[in-house]
Amino acid sequence: MIALRDQWGRSIEYLRISVTDRCNFRCVYCMPREGLQWLPKAEILTYEEIAEVVRQLSPLGLRRLRITGGEPTIRPDLVSLVRLLRSVDGIEDIALSTNGVRLPELSAPLRAAGLDRVNMSADSLRPDRIAAIARRDLGFDPVGSALAAERAGLSPVKVNVVVLRGTNDDEIEDFARLTMERPWHVRFIELMPVGDLRELTWEHVVPSDEVLSRVARLGALSPDGGPARGNGPARYYRLAGAAGTVGVITPMTHTYCGSCNRVRLTADGRLRTCLYGDHEVNLREPLRRGEPLEPLFRAALAAKPKEHALLQMQVGGLRALSQVGG
Ligand code: 5AD
Ligand code: SF4
Repeated sequence: MIALRDQWGRSIEYLRISVTDRCNFRCVYCMPREGLQWLPKAEILTYEEIAEVVRQLSPLGLRRLRITGGEPTIRPDLVSLVRLLRSVDGIEDIALSTNGVRLPELSAPLRAAGLDRVNMSADSLRPDRIAAIARRDLGFDPVGSALAAERAGLSPVKVNVVVLRGTNDDEIEDFARLTMERPWHVRFIELMPVGDLRELTWEHVVPSDEVLSRVARLGALSPDGGPARGNGPARYYRLAGAAGTVGVITPMTHTYCGSCNRVRLTADGRLRTCLYGDHEVNLREPLRRGEPLEPLFRAALAAKPKEHALLQMQVGGLRALSQVGG
């Protein structure tokens, strides 16, 4: 079979799979306090249906998976999905993106089921602030969660920090300092104006160059290849003598669409070829009718846009990242 390529020649080896649009947090940059209009259960793909999509994509060149949400760990028995995906031939790498709340109890069973690695979010190291940014107090302890993942053998552990000017930008150095002792990859993300962000605007974006100059106050900072396993657009640096790295992800100050290798499967079974805009194909009904998906994969890829329009600030109508699977 011919490998899947989009019309710009980019091959698609990497699929992000959203398993739920719900979340136990309500981060200020992601979701309104009252939540969103959740998908009805009947519209959400079962684990078996998700595995079937992956089985049909794998002969076309799919190699790496990431499980996302919403918050994937709040869907019951996520461990069984990991086990199903692990059994698909050709899949080399399975990663999870999580808010980290449930990693203390789930890291070991997820690892045993075949999960390779984890990206967790942590926007503050201070309990009161965590609760203020996430608008929920679940007793989340970011360092404890990252340690649980590391001890379970999930590797590498990446910690994602969305930097919000005036809210957590005074913790940049504290986060970077974690990499001195632990082999973690702490990545600072520029805030994106998506979803329902009435109070958060360009003024709250901290450009990554500014983040890096603050990190450099801690010691000599050199470019680094970063973790061996990664699919994304982060640029990495290492503080002299550090066990881990510091990275930046710059959706607001650089485009990296040219090297985009990803497609997304939404919780309700749409294949989205770009985060932005309306580029999606519904796989759910054909899947439930038992039809082959390959022609739909090819049609979706043929329409994958060359780049998104975020930098032009054409942001009206964008869906929150929790709805499109980050
Ligand atoms: N800007 C930047 N990052 C975001 N995320 C979600 N919404 C935004 C946003 N508006 C990222 C957060 C979270 C992950 C699920 O997606 O890092 O860690
Ligand atoms: Fe949940 Fe992640 Fe959105 Fe926060 S950013 S509300 S943890 S999906």
